Amino acid sequence: MALYNDKVMEYFMNPHNVGEIENPDGKGTYGSPVCGDMMQITISVDDNDVITDAKFKTFGCGSAIASSSMATDMIIGMKVEDALELSNQKIIDELGGLPAVKIHCSVLAEHAIKAAIYDYAQKHGKTYKGLEGFDPNEEEDHHHDVEDEDEE
Ligand code: FES
Repeated sequence: MALYNDKVMEYFMNPHNVGEIENPDGKGTYGSPVCGDMMQITISVDDNDVITDAKFKTFGCGSAIASSSMATDMIIGMKVEDALELSNQKIIDELGGLPAVKIHCSVLAEHAIKAAIYDYAQKHGKTYKGLEGFDPNEEEDHHHDVEDEDEE
């Protein structure tokens, strides 16, 4: 019954970057519309727009812990605009895969990072292409209801 691979288990059992940065440059929270679990990400950003630290706190499942642990590892050292490119699929790939029913847990990590960067951008008067159309309070899954194949 190997539902989770070894890497996922390792990141879940020994998560990196747990906690909260004091006086962060950006702080974002996201609640999963799928399961109701919550994730908070705090980031520090230097003058060159490089993320120097990232931490997470979650009321989420093991996959959410593994995903945010991996995701925060990945964005530390990245430029903000590159971190915005971090899709949940990249997180899953780096973890070596997640069970299908747990995909949304990685989405939680992706969105919480975007929410933290959104907060950073708001506070520092910055705009990023990767944030276009992103609203931290919007529930992603509702898109599917609206965007029907409306072609002629
Ligand atoms: Fe909610 Fe995984 S089940 S984040």
